[in-house]
Amino acid sequence: MDRAERLARLAGDAGCTPLYTLKPFSFVGAMELLAPRVAGFSVSSLFEARLARRVLGEEGLVHLTTPGVRPDEVEVIAGLCDHIAFNSLPQWSRFAPRTGGRARCGVRVNPQLKLVEDARYDPCRRHSKLGVPLSALESALAGDPAAFDGMTGIHFHTNCDCEDFRPLLTTVRRLLERVGGFMEKLSWVNLGGGYLFAPETDPSPLLEAVNLIRRRCGAEVFVEPGAAVARGAGRLVASVIDLFDSDGATVAVLDTTVNHWPEVFEYQEPPAVAGQVVGGRHRYLLAGCSCLAGDLFGEHAFDEPLAVGSQVVFEDAGAYTMPKWHWFNGIGLPSVYARTPEGRLILKKSYGYEEFETRCGG
Ligand SMILES: Cc1ncc(COP(=O)(O)O)c(C=O)c1O
Repeated sequence: MDRAERLARLAGDAGCTPLYTLKPFSFVGAMELLAPRVAGFSVSSLFEARLARRVLGEEGLVHLTTPGVRPDEVEVIAGLCDHIAFNSLPQWSRFAPRTGGRARCGVRVNPQLKLVEDARYDPCRRHSKLGVPLSALESALAGDPAAFDGMTGIHFHTNCDCEDFRPLLTTVRRLLERVGGFMEKLSWVNLGGGYLFAPETDPSPLLEAVNLIRRRCGAEVFVEPGAAVARGAGRLVASVIDLFDSDGATVAVLDTTVNHWPEVFEYQEPPAVAGQVVGGRHRYLLAGCSCLAGDLFGEHAFDEPLAVGSQVVFEDAGAYTMPKWHWFNGIGLPSVYARTPEGRLILKKSYGYEEFETRCGG
C-alpha cells in the first residue's frame, strides 16, 4: 500500500489524477485495497472493465484503451467505462457514434518517440499497432478536422519500467508542439504508465509535464501506472523438490516454473531471490519443474546450502505474474496469500485439479 500511497501523493503534488492499471495484477482483494487510494482503474478489455466496475461499484473511474475492441462489445464497454481511448482513427469513426452512456471518448496517440530499447515492449516501434501515429494524426487533423468532432481526450503510453520522468516531459512537449491546437479542445489527457514512481526519482519533470498540459489545455490529466504499484507487492514462494549435478552445476528443481512468471523467460534475467549473496559459497541453477529446457530462474548463490524442502522466495514478483501464468504440463498454479501488516498469511485462493480439468474442457 506504500506504493499506492506514494503514487497518490505524487499525483496530488503534480495536479493529476491517479488510476491503477489492472494489467500487471488484477486480484480482487488487492483491487479492493487499492480502490480508495486511486481515482479508478484503467483496463484493456471488456472483462477487465467488468471486473473494475464490480470492485468500484458506481464510484470510481474506469478508463479503457485496447486495440482489441470487438464490434459486439462497444455498447457494453461504453456502459462500463468513463473514458475510452480508441486505438486507431478507423476504430474511432466506427465505434464512437455507438458509445453514448457514460463514456467520454478519444484516441490513443503514438508520439513516435523511441524510448524503449527492446522492440517487443516498445509501443512506439516502427509500424506500431498501438495508437494513432502522431504524423497520421497531424495529417488527419489538417485533412478532415470534422472527423474529430466529439473527441474529448487523448491517451498515450510510451515507456516501460522507466525510473526517470524526463522522457515523459519530452513526450508531452512534442505533443504540444505538434498538435497543441487540437489538444486545447480536449478535456482529458492520459499519460499512460511505464514509470516506476520510485521514491528517489526526481518528480519535477512529471510536475512540469502535467502543468504544461493544464496551463495550455485546461484538461484533466491522468496517470495509469501498473508495475510501480504491483511489482514490489508480491513474492513467489517455492520449494526445492530435487537437487543434482549437471555438467558441474548444481541444479535445484523447484515446485514452480517460469510459466508461473513468464516474464522471467521473456526477459531472460534472473529474478531477485531472498537471501541470495553475491559470491556466496553455495551456487545453484534454480530451475522450474516443467519439461521446457529453458525453464530456468537463473544462477543464484547463498551462504547456506539448499536441501530438498528448502524454501526459495522470489522478490518483486507482483507485476505481470498472475495475469500471465498458465497451466503448461498441468503444474498446479501457486496459491495466493495476503499478508497482513503484522505478517500473518491469509489464504485467498488456491487452484486445484478441478480448475485444471475445467481448462482442459472437462
Ligand atoms: C496502455 C497502458 N497503460 C499502462 C500500462 C502499465 O504499464 P506499467 O505496468 O509499466 O506501469 C501499460 C503496460 O503495458 C499499457 O499498455
